[in-house]
Amino acid sequence: MAYLLVAACLQVLLRGLPSSLYNPKVMKFLCSSKVRERLAMAGHGFLLYYFLSHVAMEESMVSKTTVMLLERLEECTTERWQKTLVLHQLGCVLLERREFKDAQFRFLAAAKAGHVYSVAGVARTKYKQGQQYSAYTLMSSIISEYKPAGWMYQERALYNIGKEKILDLSTATELDPTFLFPYKYRAVAKAEEKQIRAAILEIDRTVRFKLSPDCIELRAWFFIALEDYESALRDIRVLLTLEPNYMMFHGKVSGDYLVELLSHRVKQLSQADCWMHLYDQWSSVDDIGSLAIIHQMLGHNPGKSLIQFRQSLLLLRLNCQKAAMRSLRLARNNSGSEHERLVYEGWILYDTGNREEALSKAEKSIHIQRSFEAFFLKAYALADSSLDSESSSYVIQLLEEALKCPSDGLRKGQALNNLGSIYVDCGKLDKAVDCYMSALDIKHTRAHQGLARVYHLKNQRKAAYDEMTKLIEKAQNNASAYEKRSEYCDPEMAKMISIWQHNWIR
Ligand SMILES: *[C@@H]1O[C@H](CO)[C@@H](O)[C@H](O)[C@H]1NC(C)=O
Ligand SMILES: *[C@@H]1O[C@H](CO)[C@@H](O)[C@H](O)[C@H]1NC(C)=O
Repeated sequence: MAYLLVAACLQVLLRGLPSSLYNPKVMKFLCSSKVRERLAMAGHGFLLYYFLSHVAMEESMVSKTTVMLLERLEECTTERWQKTLVLHQLGCVLLERREFKDAQFRFLAAAKAGHVYSVAGVARTKYKQGQQYSAYTLMSSIISEYKPAGWMYQERALYNIGKEKILDLSTATELDPTFLFPYKYRAVAKAEEKQIRAAILEIDRTVRFKLSPDCIELRAWFFIALEDYESALRDIRVLLTLEPNYMMFHGKVSGDYLVELLSHRVKQLSQADCWMHLYDQWSSVDDIGSLAIIHQMLGHNPGKSLIQFRQSLLLLRLNCQKAAMRSLRLARNNSGSEHERLVYEGWILYDTGNREEALSKAEKSIHIQRSFEAFFLKAYALADSSLDSESSSYVIQLLEEALKCPSDGLRKGQALNNLGSIYVDCGKLDKAVDCYMSALDIKHTRAHQGLARVYHLKNQRKAAYDEMTKLIEKAQNNASAYEKRSEYCDPEMAKMISIWQHNWIR
């Protein structure tokens, strides 16, 4: 009975996260030694405090709550890996809180326990206490002792100067191209030398693999410096899509205010113009441009669920799951009809790992009204599992039903693309070609990639290469298309293409 009561209470607290962390009573309860001991006895202490401290860190790295939860977590550790992990995290939080001595103590302990990366923390605390040279030699010794890794060079660059610094940063990018700091540093250095275009190109390199708000903000400022207000406005709109209350310029200027200022310098678009632009950008595979247009459309029409749903689809393509979920929830809250709401609820369920429930929402929605989006959701959720020929033909049937319902070219192009992909998976290559051709008829440029795959499977390497060339010619962001095309002319790489699983996009 008592266990059930505790479990029920805990559930209430967890449902209320993150705001329940701000309730002093909740914190007093969670951090009391009694509660911690009981949880430890039940064997769940580490997991629970690990989860809670992560939620707290996401809210604020420097809050007292975060430190308290991490300290409880430290008390719950039993294994060595747990201990080193927590020591490192506490080090990071204390460093942010500018408690350098305490931070250094934790980093040192973690490094001693075998966590080499914590040495970077030790170096940072040294640097913060004015020991730049000591930090530099520490990182140099790590580089000579261990197998080189990108982070080692990135960290040493922080304490290095002049040409050496630039050299360390380019080694860091070579070893790990996904670290953002080297690109940002080079971009700012180039801007200081008045090479604004080169600075923008540097940031463009990051945008290809990650949409990071501070990189986008930097690029916006560079565009303003070039008086290219249209591009600056586009980037700021993207920023506000990722973080609606984004404050620019070290938190001093609201993004919305800058949008207002720049809007006076850029030709205004009506809602109909926006749709036209959205189609153009869609067919030139410009997801970032599309995101900016959608932001503008929501400015004209704040509570429009259909547009919020489109926003979530684009954000997913760009790998921004958190922002995508926010847009999807807004779409659900603003949906104008029951059958529409059921579809958005279905996607939310699907994205939180509840596939069966998502399917049932789709079915309910179809029951009320047959719609493109409901059939699409149902097909997508079913195609998620591995398909035998019977379920494949059911998915095909669902997509065909979807295509009979009213929708626009943007959505139908996607459905045709997915249909093509499932035909390829069942070996019906001619049917797949028909789908991709129909998708291209309505300017769904991504279908070139599907066609290339079909030609490749038919052993027509030249035709596959030519399809990718067409994609490269039409696509704004064509870096990955270049890569794929080269795979089609390299026999070794080409072998890999045949093992590509079907690649569904919403
Ligand atoms: C949607 O509505 C619910 C309930 O009214 C609310 O709690 C939630 O914050 C809303 N979500 C968004 C993203 O606005
Ligand atoms: C394709 O990429 C190149 C280099 O990134 C760029 O110069 C070119 O403009 C892109 N193509 C289109 C149609 O935008």
